[in-house]
Amino acid sequence: MLVPPYIASLRPYEPGRSADEVKRTYGLTRVAKLASNENPLGASPLAVDAMRAHLTEVNIYPNGGLDLRERLATEFDVKVANVIAGSGSDGIMSNIIRAFLCDDDEVLTTESAFIGFQVLARSRGVAYRTVPYRNWHYDLEALAAAITEKTKIVYLANPNNPTGTIFTKHEFDEFYRHVPERVLIILDEAYFEYAKDNPRYPDSMHYRYDNVITLRTFSKIYGLAGIRVGYGFAHEDLIANLLKVKLTFEPSSLAQVAGIAALDDREFVHRSLELNARGRKFIAAAIARMGFETIPSEANFVMVPLESPSVAAWMTEELLKRGIIVRPLGAFGLPHCVRISTGTDEDNRLLVDSLEQLHVKEVVCRS
Ligand SMILES: Cc1ncc(COP(=O)(O)O)c(C=O)c1O
Repeated sequence: MLVPPYIASLRPYEPGRSADEVKRTYGLTRVAKLASNENPLGASPLAVDAMRAHLTEVNIYPNGGLDLRERLATEFDVKVANVIAGSGSDGIMSNIIRAFLCDDDEVLTTESAFIGFQVLARSRGVAYRTVPYRNWHYDLEALAAAITEKTKIVYLANPNNPTGTIFTKHEFDEFYRHVPERVLIILDEAYFEYAKDNPRYPDSMHYRYDNVITLRTFSKIYGLAGIRVGYGFAHEDLIANLLKVKLTFEPSSLAQVAGIAALDDREFVHRSLELNARGRKFIAAAIARMGFETIPSEANFVMVPLESPSVAAWMTEELLKRGIIVRPLGAFGLPHCVRISTGTDEDNRLLVDSLEQLHVKEVVCRS
């Protein structure tokens, strides 16, 4: 057989639906895309200016991320040897899987983990083991207990996607005491900037261990999801091995200048955080008024568990008809849940008005 069975049986990553496709399908002129945890304010203006200024230099090969690594090293007060930059944090995750997993190794994470990690890990054909959530949080105690001699990678997203929950420094410290040094912990901090001001949130830069790799991204708060640029911090030996397997020329030169400029865009980050905090509160309050639960989130989205997969599918479809794209979580393994990213104030208002209409419809249908 040409394709190994673990690739043949792999369910490919399903991205959220695009605004253009939804406009075409439903004959709409305005669509709010609240499905992929993107920045509703657009891209960092400083990053856009920097990319514009470098557009005519794309005939030259990039330098493998070195400029960005240097800038990140200064920003976060670490050595360049401790930093990697790549095509999104997804790109770096893919390199971690390639660099560190052998055929008999196992990866361990929570049930219904971030779909991008699920797809990448399963594509390597190694055993993929999970433990259930505890109250929609990573159950770090159960994860520590589930580590075997074969466990090579433990994947933790903090804040987590799709639940939006965090684990605390105290919880992580307790967990870490039980993890053998031969196990690599991936701490995926894609939503770091949204959570970092919470005093209970552990910024993993404050505890650099030899077997921990922190991953972060420019896709979320900096609004650069389309340009594909992310970064990571780890012990220099880990980074040196990752550099061996990464594609020589990732990140692209435009991604690199965008990342460097975005780090200076404090005003954009500030505005994005304020909009997100306002939107998250507004959406969660409206959903609670309708009698649905939302999971308290530290990121730029909220997860809504519903009573059944059919209610989740119904809500998703009814919102689509009204021009709002949310993310049904069947592919994550949570078919009764939907995830809603925060949007602009106008998007959020449209969402809440639409949910209120649905609620009335649902109550009328039931009575
Ligand atoms: C937890 C988590 N990690 C990583 C990513 C991927 O980020 P990037 O765009 O940097 O590949 C996402 C994107 O949704 C995410 O939610």
